[in-house]
Amino acid sequence: MSSCSRALTPALAALGVAALLSLPREAHADENVTFSGGLSMSLSFGQKVAFGLGVDLRATALFEESWGSPASKGLGPFAQATLLNFEAGRFAIGVHGGSEIVRNYDDVVCTIDGELGWTYRSRYSDELPGQHGLHVGVVSTLFSPVGLDLFARAAIPLSSEPFVPEGTLGMGLRFLPPFGEQTRAIDGRPLRTAEGVVLPPAIALGPAAPRPARLDRATRAALAGAWLDSARAECGSIPAFLALARDLAAAGAPASLVGRALAALGDEVRHTARCAAIASSLAGWRLSPALLPPPAARDADRRAALVRMALEAWHDGCLGEGAAAARARRSLAGASDAGVRAALAEIARDEAQHAELGWRVLAYCLAEGGREVREAVGDAMTGPAPAPPGDLAEVDGEPRETQAFGQLPRAQADSAWDETWTAARRDGERLLTAA
Ligand SMILES: [Fe+2]
Ligand SMILES: [Fe+2]
Repeated sequence: MSSCSRALTPALAALGVAALLSLPREAHADENVTFSGGLSMSLSFGQKVAFGLGVDLRATALFEESWGSPASKGLGPFAQATLLNFEAGRFAIGVHGGSEIVRNYDDVVCTIDGELGWTYRSRYSDELPGQHGLHVGVVSTLFSPVGLDLFARAAIPLSSEPFVPEGTLGMGLRFLPPFGEQTRAIDGRPLRTAEGVVLPPAIALGPAAPRPARLDRATRAALAGAWLDSARAECGSIPAFLALARDLAAAGAPASLVGRALAALGDEVRHTARCAAIASSLAGWRLSPALLPPPAARDADRRAALVRMALEAWHDGCLGEGAAAARARRSLAGASDAGVRAALAEIARDEAQHAELGWRVLAYCLAEGGREVREAVGDAMTGPAPAPPGDLAEVDGEPRETQAFGQLPRAQADSAWDETWTAARRDGERLLTAA
């Protein structure tokens, strides 16, 4: 019995770890529903001039983002309660929907949100009894995650006299942006499927000897998690390159381009193994991401394939893999662990080549795809900068140790992204002009 339970404990622990790790997840917008709340001051006029103090709660179901549009859109219910002149209350419930209209990297700087619903004002006096009506409104939120709300609302009476609409202007504070905070991941070449970007699951295969001994528990766990995420992202690049090679071949691309996509697939296999080995040694568990199949071919025709491949080359190759190379180079400068240094040196070299392959695929699609590709790529290049990878948030832990193990401080990761974006946009515009 005791030997049985001795054997069972690690097995159960491994199962538990595996269960925790094994759900493939969408790498961007982990949450598809987001919540937001606001406090406001307002002035109402029409029936009676009234000073209001209000609260507002809203839930929002976020829509899938589209290419070239880094803004989130969403729709959901809202509820409001406002105290008018400390003598009456106005309540509203309904549906709100809108979008981010300006985004500066991962900070939402402006959103616009419309409201439609039902409203009820409680009784002021005998002349102004309680009245229900139609609620319409528009709110713009500036800044995030604590934002400034500016709003205009109207209540159009549906019951009893007087039929005088009430208008309200106000401002307030909003906690959490209405359309969520962005965590878009562009870490190397992501695996894009019909359902969005997918991060392969990971499994724990059994205990391993943890090393090195000097790390405290929390830092070790954070580092293991970060390297496991990298292993999963690298593993997602394998089927992504397989699909790229297949789609290039189907579009009639030169054999050299198809061959380079297959060679890159081989690089991603090595990156996956290296990152998983580092994660395993830190975790004290043999951890491995699970290989997923390539997504099914889904382009309507060759033209659609060229547009999609051009946009993916830009986002995932020129930007994503370019930034991955820039981050690896910077991480290498601060890393001291031998295994980590070897992995980072290899990743920095290979990802720079993958970015270069991205540029070649882009040039091929521009040459073959004509105006449609030029316009799509032009829109992506001249639009607002995409957010830097959100899942590369700084790893918690003692900074000297996290850097020794190849994790960059957030500011450095962001500046690597900035640098990549600026250079890629300049080179991209040149390429477009030449095309
Ligand atoms: Fe890679
Ligand atoms: Fe890559």
